[in-house]
Amino acid sequence: MKFFLDTADLDEIAEAASWGVLAGVTTNPSLYARIGGRLDDFENHIKRICEIVDGPVSAESVSMTRDEIVADGRRLAALAPNVVVKVPTMVEGLAATRELASEGIKVNMTLCFTVPQAIMAARSGAAFISPFIGRFDDISETGLDHLGDIIEAVGNYDFGHPVEIIAASVRSANHVAEAALMGADIATVPFKVLKKCVEHPLTDRGLDSFLADWEKVKNA
Ligand code: G3P
Repeated sequence: MKFFLDTADLDEIAEAASWGVLAGVTTNPSLYARIGGRLDDFENHIKRICEIVDGPVSAESVSMTRDEIVADGRRLAALAPNVVVKVPTMVEGLAATRELASEGIKVNMTLCFTVPQAIMAARSGAAFISPFIGRFDDISETGLDHLGDIIEAVGNYDFGHPVEIIAASVRSANHVAEAALMGADIATVPFKVLKKCVEHPLTDRGLDSFLADWEKVKNA
């Protein structure tokens, strides 16, 4: 499984890239708003992310009609070779994805919750599909179960083009672990979850005892 960072924060992206684990970035309008992003700087900000990241960078269209989504997608894809256009799973999104994919523009179909939505996203030409885990947990359903269903169903078919499943709306290291066990191609995670993924109390305890013993070695 590859790690993407789910953020628009350049410092977080640069830090994760320095760890050697960053394979891509996903952004959305909420994440851009969270860093105080302005509309007139949005496209430049995506370009800045693309310069840091050696991998796909998802930039979302906020349009609601197919023609507008396609226009957004063409503009976003022209910003950098690694831009992927994020498109919501809805009728207009499917139609736009079909057009963008036919032009060789990669689409990440987002806000995907069900098996039929995922199959339709793949059929329309999406290169990435983003099932949301945490949003199901928010309504007292088990998001990981839905993710597992989607991975299994998409894996049953050949769509004639590569389709990667991105476990999204990831809220914990456990979500990451379970997504990996289910065979998700990618997990896109907030920076604080990525940090949690590298930590364990036994690692800390082991390190403390190694350091203490090394002091003994130095003083022997
Ligand atoms: O990639 C989608 C993700 O940003 C949504 O996460 O935590 O807002 O449900 P969340």
